[in-house]
Amino acid sequence: MKKLSMLLAMLVAIGSLGFAKGGQQGSGSGSGSTSQGALVGIAMPETHVQRWQKDGANLKAAVEKLGYRAEVAYGDADQNRQNQQIQNFLTNGAKLLIVSNLNDGVASAIADAAQDKVPVIAYDRLIMNSGDYDYYITFNNLKVGQFQGQGLETGLKLKEASPDAPKYITLFAGSPTDNNAKFFFDGAMSVLNPYIKSGVLKVIGPYPETSADNANFQRIATENWQAPVAKTRMENLLNNDAANVVLDGVLAPNDTLARAIIEACLADAKYADGKLPVVTGQDAEADSVLSIKNGQQYMTVFKDTAKLAEAAVLLADQIIKGQTPSIPGATLASGDIASIGDTGKKRVKAYLLEPVILTKDNWQLPLNAGHFTPEEAARLK
Ligand code: BGC
Repeated sequence: MKKLSMLLAMLVAIGSLGFAKGGQQGSGSGSGSTSQGALVGIAMPETHVQRWQKDGANLKAAVEKLGYRAEVAYGDADQNRQNQQIQNFLTNGAKLLIVSNLNDGVASAIADAAQDKVPVIAYDRLIMNSGDYDYYITFNNLKVGQFQGQGLETGLKLKEASPDAPKYITLFAGSPTDNNAKFFFDGAMSVLNPYIKSGVLKVIGPYPETSADNANFQRIATENWQAPVAKTRMENLLNNDAANVVLDGVLAPNDTLARAIIEACLADAKYADGKLPVVTGQDAEADSVLSIKNGQQYMTVFKDTAKLAEAAVLLADQIIKGQTPSIPGATLASGDIASIGDTGKKRVKAYLLEPVILTKDNWQLPLNAGHFTPEEAARLK
């Protein structure tokens, strides 16, 4: 009996050390106790968009809270760099990876993870052209875009407008290498296209009806979500295509780019002094929420990224423990929106959280939800 219990104890100890390259026991193995202290690698895309700094910190805290170790790395808009960071996680024996990628060049690193039997969760951004992973967790990005379209619809009072006095807008999209950018744009255009067709709304500059019009989509897209790129494009528009009209609205895909677009407008006499167009956004960044409070940016979309991080880490824990995932507060995409998990090589399980539209009327919501750092919160009060 004593011998048997010693043998069992040895087996448990071997199990917790893991085999081969740093503890890959394959998915579906083990109970909670063997995974204690295991490493979870967290690969974030960029720091120039504020949200990712929160995401990195939230994920790390949530991972550590469950008794794992966490390493966080930022690719800083460079996919080769992120691939190297993923390789480092694998070398360090990561048991699971949470990855928010820059572009589909990440697929080779994900293939390496699969070869090492390290499961990967695509975080916020789908990993395209890869069949080497099974899980994706994000917000309902089509809805994010619909909220942006609705922002323009309400802000420009499109329901009451007539083709005799059309409203003028221009369109911006996010990074062409980020699959989310297409969902945001298509969601927004599903609201705006009927008004364009009826002549109530006129588009200045390129008009892709959907992201499937790749040539025009590329013309309105913003490489790597870089604010200076959007600002320069807006300045050019104001001096050329939009020189002889007053823009009533701008579809901006996130807050970082919205503020760059607003900056370009404020430098133009036509739009200074409270005459800004209705500008959309996303992320509820402190600077943009302040801008909404002060009546400059019109709206944003609040995605509670602390909840996303928590849900992603719960999913990670369940995968590591070989359990069937069950994520409260998230819906598994199916039916019309099942394609949200379509990588081009495979349909992965996509868990969706709900975004919230934010305007001057409810800007306090993220403040009350604890979305801001104390310094940010102080600026908003
Ligand atoms: C995210 C947005 C973010 C953008 C730029 C997207 O994939 O969903 O929240 O603003 O990337 O970083």
